[in-house]
Amino acid sequence: MNSLIEKFQQAGQGQVFAFFEELAPEEQRRLLTEAAEIDLEEVARLTRTLLGASAAAGVELTGLAPAPYIKRPEHGGDASGWARAKAVGEAALRAGRVAAFTVAGGQGTRLGFDGPKGTFRVTPVKAKPLFQVFAEKLRAAGTRYGRPLHWFIMTSHANHAATEAFFEENNHFGFDRGRVHFFRQGRMPAVDFAGKILLETKGSVALSPDGHGGSLRALARSGSLDLMAREGIETLSYFQVDNPLVRCIDPAFIGWHLEHRSEMSSKMVTKAYAEEKVGHFCTQGGRTVVIEYSDLPLERQRETDATGGLRYLAGSIAIHLLDREFVRRMAVGASGAEGATLPFHRADKKIPTIDAQGRTVKPEKPNGVKFELFVFDAIPFARNPVIIETLRADDFSPVKNATGLDSPATCRDDQLRQFARWLRANGVAVATDATGLPAMTFEVSPLFGYDGDSFAESWRKLTPAPAICDGHYLA
Ligand code: UTP
Repeated sequence: MNSLIEKFQQAGQGQVFAFFEELAPEEQRRLLTEAAEIDLEEVARLTRTLLGASAAAGVELTGLAPAPYIKRPEHGGDASGWARAKAVGEAALRAGRVAAFTVAGGQGTRLGFDGPKGTFRVTPVKAKPLFQVFAEKLRAAGTRYGRPLHWFIMTSHANHAATEAFFEENNHFGFDRGRVHFFRQGRMPAVDFAGKILLETKGSVALSPDGHGGSLRALARSGSLDLMAREGIETLSYFQVDNPLVRCIDPAFIGWHLEHRSEMSSKMVTKAYAEEKVGHFCTQGGRTVVIEYSDLPLERQRETDATGGLRYLAGSIAIHLLDREFVRRMAVGASGAEGATLPFHRADKKIPTIDAQGRTVKPEKPNGVKFELFVFDAIPFARNPVIIETLRADDFSPVKNATGLDSPATCRDDQLRQFARWLRANGVAVATDATGLPAMTFEVSPLFGYDGDSFAESWRKLTPAPAICDGHYLA
């Protein structure tokens, strides 16, 4: 018998090959390849720790306190410190020591869009896809600092080919193709509540991406860290594929990170309301940690300080800077060899599978568990982690859901508000409602301006300044 099948049987996972004899040779080969990817010891360990009777009852909250963060000047922060940080960040960009990193391996289930999320169209006039928005921001930043950027993009097995094809079809949106680096993240098998690996069909395992935290080991495994080292790149600017508002390259953020010799830095926004569903930046036992809203009791979420403000104020928006060698260290730990290890999280899900007779099962309620790594779990392992404040309006409006909160509609409006703010900051009267939403629909190309500074630089050069009207595209 095939030694791999034997290994699965010995590990009590023989069901993976229950229909093996029925499969065509090509299907058998595929199943064996998938099975070879599975770390049976890891699955056994996760079953013990996350599914077993001794599974932790919840997150340990002893000694938890709000994490300190660097305030923006308009909120009482040190303006000269921000100016200095910006200069440090700009110098690093001019020296080519920073690269961009987009995590785009998610399944995007909530949006329900058929295709890689980065191909989803988001801008108000040109309906540019997310990937184009980032490509143009990064091109513009590269030009501004005189050093074209490298861009790393993490995909999944499910969307890798479609993502690469999309870039090909669109001539990489003008990006130097030699500087765009795609790599796949790892996969994890889903298990039932007893820890048995589930099959999706008779010839395939129910595999899913290993979470955005899988990016650390995927960066190492794909050779991206070595490429960075060869190119003299020390810092990765990490952002999610669903957030077109993000400042993909933010010199002040980079400067704070470098000045503090931080290994992993993060941006925070003040929570909009006590129960907002974000991760909370906290400290515990001298370390910085992110506690998910679902793990922080409501009374803590609502706690106030002496001034009546929220005590746990700092919400995480999944924007980070990562030091290259820190990622390497974490990646070694993640594969279990030594030291630091990102913990897996358990998510109970409805997992399409087959029953013992091989019949398709479409469950109505969760029938199993997926295991995922979260990138923010690396923060406690980082030396000198820095958290800086940002304004939501400048950095965060994700497309998560098809409608309602964090949807294409809210994201479009937030882009319009940002464009209107940039115009107003340059003396243009723009009619808006009380929320800052302009009456007209228009769009600013990232190649014209991708943040307040770059917009102002381009705007100053326009003589005479154009009259912006409904449907205008400022490029
Ligand atoms: P989300 O947590 O929003 O998950 O990902 P998702 O899979 O995209 O969407 P839902 O939950 O199924 O609706 C946040 C970011 O992390 C990336 C996503 O692509 C997105 O940029 N991500 C998530 C990965 O790259 N890999 C993963 O395994 C999970």
